[in-house]
Order: sequence, then structure tokens, then C-alpha cells
Amino acid sequence: MVKVRILPEDRVFVLTGAGISAESGLPTFRAEDGLWAGHRVEDVCTPEAWERNPWLVWEFYSMRRAAAQRAEPNAAHAALGEMEARLGERFFLCTQNVDDLHERAGSERLLHMHGELAKSRCELECGRAPVEDGAIYGSLDEVGRCPCGGRLRPHIVFFGETPLGMERIQKELARATLMLVVGTSGSVYPAADFVYWAGRSGARTVYVGPERPRNAAAFTQVVEGKAGEVLPHLFEYV
Ligand code: APR
Repeated sequence: MVKVRILPEDRVFVLTGAGISAESGLPTFRAEDGLWAGHRVEDVCTPEAWERNPWLVWEFYSMRRAAAQRAEPNAAHAALGEMEARLGERFFLCTQNVDDLHERAGSERLLHMHGELAKSRCELECGRAPVEDGAIYGSLDEVGRCPCGGRLRPHIVFFGETPLGMERIQKELARATLMLVVGTSGSVYPAADFVYWAGRSGARTVYVGPERPRNAAAFTQVVEGKAGEVLPHLFEYV
């Protein structure tokens, strides 16, 4: 395996997707046995689905909460925690994942662009911050309400909604000299475009995953393999 050298002047931007949590037992989205198998995405992950049937949405996210709570971080999450410990503020991690396995492996300079499973927020745009909520609900009656009267919804960016933290992401991408992308199929935007944005500002771009992503041609280097097997041995800190 050709090592990825990390130089003292490098600023590293990492983007992760569902594949980094696959070895922790959490299914990816577009795998055959993936999360959407029993649930059509438009039934559970859109503002329209929420309007139509909030309980179906909560049932789905309660199931995902339970699975994430059972899962443990794997060697790939740990390798990124170690990288941050070495690089400090020269490191930034943007994840599309809504599980908390990165945090549990020590990551702190972290942004969840698609939201977080363990939080809920008001369904109305009332301005209150999301609240910690790991509950696995058994019925819609159990779901609380915001002080403003709105029902709590999962703190998840549904399809058609704007990802969180885009300003920060653009700033970090613009100053990155090395971009590492792990376990994402490159089919959901805007995340699939980040490699182009980073490349435009001159960054080296590396992809790690068992198969080539849809945007593979945009990367300087593609390392084929499972994240938990590749990441612990991939980097050479100069
Ligand atoms: N290590 C690394 N990558 C892996 C592994 C592994 N062990 N196992 C699978 N993968 C790769 C697959 O090859 C695939 O390219 O992970 C990728 C998973 O792709 P998707 O299921 O499309 O997940 P992701 O790209 O994260 O989806 C993006 O779509 O549904 C929305 O909001 C949801 O954040 C999600 C977004």
C-alpha cells in the first residue's frame, strides 16, 4: 500500500460516510442489505414524510438509535481520533454519519453535516437549539414537545433540506492541503462535490473504501480496502 505522507505544514480535511461505520455493524445506505431495504427513503427521510406520518419517521430513527447505541467504534474511527491528537487544529472531520462513533473514538474537531441521531429538535423553525435525546420511542404519544408547542423531530437533515455547517465546511475545505474521504459512495450532494472544491484549491485528495466511489476520477489516489483495515496503516507522519 502506498502510504499517505502527512507533512508538518499539512491541514487535513476528512470526510466520512456510512462505510466507516460498516465494520461496527451499522449497515450502509446503498448496500443490498442496506437501511433502505425495508423502508423506501421517501417514506422516512423527507419533510413530506414527516408531514404525512411522523410516527413512521420516529419508528425508523428509533430503530437506528438502538443500533447505534449497541455499536462500538472500530479501528478506522480510532485512527482518525489518533490523527486529530497528533495534528490538533490542523485537523478537521466532517461526517455524513449521524451516529456518534467518531466522538466515542476521541474526535472533537467534528461536524455532523447530516445531523445527529442522539438529538431532537423542534419541528417548527422556532429557533431553539437541538436537545440531547437518545430515547427509543414506542409510540408517538411518548415523543415530547418543544416549549413553543411544536413536536420534537429527529435532529436529522432530511432529503431536500440544507446540510448543517456549510459555511464552516467551505472555509475548512478552502484551506486544506490534504483531503481524505472514507466510505462514501459519492452519490449524495453537496458532499460528493467536496473533492472538487478541495482539488480546486490544490489539495491532494485520497479515497479509502472497498469499491470505487462514483466520483473516483476526481481523487489523486484511491486506496481500495476496508476502512478498519486500511486506515491504521495508511499514514506516515513526517
Ligand atoms: N470501509 C470503507 N468503506 C466501506 C466499507 C468499509 N468497511 N463498507 C462499505 N463501504 C463503502 C461502500 O463501498 C460505499 O461506497 O461505503 C459506502 C457507503 O455508501 P452509501 O451507503 O451511499 O453511504 P453514504 O455515502 O454515507 O451516504 C450519504 O446518503 O442516505 C443519505 O444522509 C444519508 O449520509 C447519508 C448519505
